[in-house]
Amino acid sequence: MRLVYPDPELVSDAVRIRKWSFDDLDCIETAGRDPEIPKGTTVPAVFTVAEGRAFVERQWSRNDDGQALALAVAEAGSNDAVGHMYLGSTRVERQCRLGYWLIPDARRQGIGTSAIRLISRWVLTENEVYRLVAEVHPDNLASRRLLEKCGFSLEGTLRSWLWIDDQPHDALQYSLLRFDLSHE
Ligand SMILES: CC(C)(COP(=O)(O)OP(=O)(O)OC[C@H]1O[C@@H](n2cnc3c(N)ncnc32)[C@H](O)[C@@H]1OP(=O)(O)O)[C@@H](O)C(=O)NCCC(=O)NCCS
Repeated sequence: MRLVYPDPELVSDAVRIRKWSFDDLDCIETAGRDPEIPKGTTVPAVFTVAEGRAFVERQWSRNDDGQALALAVAEAGSNDAVGHMYLGSTRVERQCRLGYWLIPDARRQGIGTSAIRLISRWVLTENEVYRLVAEVHPDNLASRRLLEKCGFSLEGTLRSWLWIDDQPHDALQYSLLRFDLSHE
């Protein structure tokens, strides 16, 4: 399975999902100050321009072999980056894994819902992907509610699946299937 950048770009009334750019360093700096984002991502916790540019180049390079896509979430009006969407293929055939974050000021305005609806429908209908999964820490109520709102189903608990702060943590696995979209 090969993932290629969406063409045309994914746009809704609220968001534009596009390639990361060197103009997005403010967003990366802000995300690095969040207590949680740098823990589970490669966002630099200590920002420098060189680290910010390296983050952008890393996102571009994820698509080098077609196995993943890393895209910025921007506000539709301003085109300012406020978050991140990651799609990566897995060892399971025709399955992709979804990851995401938004900077704190962009949260609780429906931006996550808009972005995940847009990217999940695109990946499941315009690609050879049949199954989209997301793994969430049980305490992450925002992420759990977001996935449920976007039509994902809870499949079960992956025990000691996440390694955070040098400790194992359970994860909840959610999925959205191409089949689910035809029942919306
Ligand atoms: C998870 C995240 C992307 C949610 O994005 P968002 O744009 O704030 O979500 P939305 O505004 O679209 O809200 C979606 C739903 O979640 C609910 N929600 C959002 N934040 C919440 C919170 N902190 N606690 C409980 N519910 C929350 C909203 O109320 C809404 O449900 P409703 O319509 O029934 O009221 C954002 O909180 C985030 O970036 N968190 C840090 C990174 C992270 O956890 N990434 C996911 C790792 S699995």
